[in-house]
Amino acid sequence: MYEDVIRELADGNRHSVESLDLDESQVPRLTAYMDELGIEYSLGGGVLQIVGSLELLQANRMRAYMDERARDLLQEIEIHWSIDSTNTYLLQKTATQKCHGEVSIAEQQTQGRGRRGKNWVSPFGKNLYMSIAWRMPTSGESVDGLSLAVGVGVVRGLVACGVEGAQLKWPNDLLVDGSKLGGILIEVSNPKLEVVDVIVGVGINLQMPVDSGRTIDQNWTDMTRVTGIRISRNLVAAKLLDNLLVMLSTFPEMGFKSYRREWQGYDAFKDMAVEVHIGNETVAGIGKGVDDRGALCLQTETGIRHFIGGEASLRVLAT
Ligand code: BTN
Repeated sequence: MYEDVIRELADGNRHSVESLDLDESQVPRLTAYMDELGIEYSLGGGVLQIVGSLELLQANRMRAYMDERARDLLQEIEIHWSIDSTNTYLLQKTATQKCHGEVSIAEQQTQGRGRRGKNWVSPFGKNLYMSIAWRMPTSGESVDGLSLAVGVGVVRGLVACGVEGAQLKWPNDLLVDGSKLGGILIEVSNPKLEVVDVIVGVGINLQMPVDSGRTIDQNWTDMTRVTGIRISRNLVAAKLLDNLLVMLSTFPEMGFKSYRREWQGYDAFKDMAVEVHIGNETVAGIGKGVDDRGALCLQTETGIRHFIGGEASLRVLAT
């Protein structure tokens, strides 16, 4: 509904209601819809204008920003105006067809999902919500290690966009100065004898509206706050794809061990007092990085304990 009109208005120029092919009764419905999406506009004298323009997602721009190696690995970029969740979409799609190298990105998610059953706040046109479907051999490297390697790939992509000081909170939360900049949700679908479809979901806060931010239950930040500039969402998507597609294609041979040292360099909780929560168990200790499989190493009173990702969560203890 009104998607085409909003696409036309996205340039931020003045458009007469007449040129938009709208009759008088449609204007209040359009503006109510823009209010609902959080799009700022001005309306007067039969002229409608989006305040400060709106950068919509465009597959051709992303492709143009991507490097050649990643472009060759890409099957398709599908852009959704509004969807429940890009991960759910690809999970459903892989159930009936092969989607190796397929990317799904949305302007808005109505039921964005985070780790451990949490909701992922996904307002329209502001942040990045992207999932990649990739078919992996079942033998060899585990998905736990892959999930940490994805964290490294995302940090590399953010660095390419000018983000400094990004850190990883095991297993793969993205933090800057202790506040959440983004998150990663890896899911598997369709396990067969030899291959499994992995869905890599990445959510990055670029320009989180303050109202939406109020509904997030932890400290958060976004790329605009961190860098002081408004970075193109199409560029961020491209730089993440550059790193993630190449990482996914080489992971079966390279494994997490080739990313371990870099992961440890981004470790937000290295040598800090933390608690790991897993099921009903809480284990306190000092963070000692990760092992070759991507398991968290915790120095406890009884020695080093190793925790595999899954449903475990980590909390820093007050210092
Ligand atoms: C986390 O809890 O930190 C993980 C958040 C993952 C959010 C992304 S947004 C794109 C993809 N679709 C979803 O529903 N979730 C992931």
